Amino acid sequence: MTFLPSFRPALSWRELGAALRAGRRPGGSEEFARALERYLDVPHAVAAHSARWGLYHLLRGLGLREGDEVLVPALTYFAVPAAVVRAGLKPVFVDIQPDSLAIDPEAARRSVTGRTRAVIPTHLSGFICDLAAVCALARERGLTVIEDCAQSLGGAFRGRRAGAWGEAAYFTFGVTKHMTTLGGAMVVARDEVLARGLRRAAQSPVLARLPAAALLKAAVMKCATSGPGFPLTYAGLRLCAGAGLDAVDLLFAEPPAQLGEPRAGAFHPAQSALGLLQLASLDARNQRRRERALQLYGLLRAIPGVRVPRSQEGAEDVFSSCPVFVPGKERARQELLRRGIDSSLGYLQDCSALEMFAEQRRECPNAARAKREVLYLPLYEELAESDVELVADRLRRALRGA
Ligand SMILES: Cc1ncc(COP(=O)(O)O)c(C=O)c1O
Repeated sequence: MTFLPSFRPALSWRELGAALRAGRRPGGSEEFARALERYLDVPHAVAAHSARWGLYHLLRGLGLREGDEVLVPALTYFAVPAAVVRAGLKPVFVDIQPDSLAIDPEAARRSVTGRTRAVIPTHLSGFICDLAAVCALARERGLTVIEDCAQSLGGAFRGRRAGAWGEAAYFTFGVTKHMTTLGGAMVVARDEVLARGLRRAAQSPVLARLPAAALLKAAVMKCATSGPGFPLTYAGLRLCAGAGLDAVDLLFAEPPAQLGEPRAGAFHPAQSALGLLQLASLDARNQRRRERALQLYGLLRAIPGVRVPRSQEGAEDVFSSCPVFVPGKERARQELLRRGIDSSLGYLQDCSALEMFAEQRRECPNAARAKREVLYLPLYEELAESDVELVADRLRRALRGA
């Protein structure tokens, strides 16, 4: 039987080796930041510890008053509204569209009050939001647009890169991202004064030591998800599933919690070198994943009960992962795993329903349904056309119980 992992780190051994060799010379975040500015066509990019702390420093830099409101899509990673709270502001959860993963611009409009100051369009799985609608609302109501590009580097809307539409945006480069520097994040800003403040607050001096733990984790993940390695991983996944456990959750899940003390960050020269290498090949890699995703989505549309997220008109999506709506996704995942295909329940939440945001609770039925139904199918550059056919075929069988 062919076994397929749900995910593979998006970096080659060659890139890793080249980055390590290049990383012996001086120069940390700056070279990578300049390259990102050119790639996105934005004036300022600043290194940050992580997206959450980049967002925190951004919000602080905007000079908002305690209790001012920020519109956040309900379906997102908990760390985003947690950073808003940590900055002394109030996240106001906005539902997503029923047929996509994107913030609903009409629901956002209805959520604006006299205290709303900012909105965070979030391009989940590389599906780019309707930035024209969000930016029009922001202009009308005087809101700052901060794009969450944690999952969307390389995407565009009407020919302009995602990340270059708002006043600011943030990107993160952990090992599970479609472009990785084994950790670290970048914040981009249009305004010079805001960028200067970010450099002071969010960026620390060049990292003196290589983040060896992250390097080791990437190497282990590469082995565990490789052709020869995955059958063993698969056995472990099945064993855990048999005991009612989710191995990926056990190893990687970060339980939602309020954020601690603010942190600044930087890139080690090897990470910066890796960032430059990855950025140079990003468009080609995104194109390869786009081809496989479109092939898979085409096949999935023919499967009863499965819904493919809608893309926005004018969006050039990057498909950093491959989400589909499948009612009863836990069971579907188990059945698919029994047939050799790993998938993922994902790590996003309907944050409007999380206990930690009880004070900001709001009914967001579309986000609640997405949390219940969105399953992430295998998608990575090495996937062959025949693998994609296999995934679709086995999902069809899994849902039929055949
Ligand atoms: C959509 C989204 N926003 C924000 C974050 C937070 O990123 P970080 O872990 O770098 O703070 C993530 C994490 O992966 C994410 O997926």
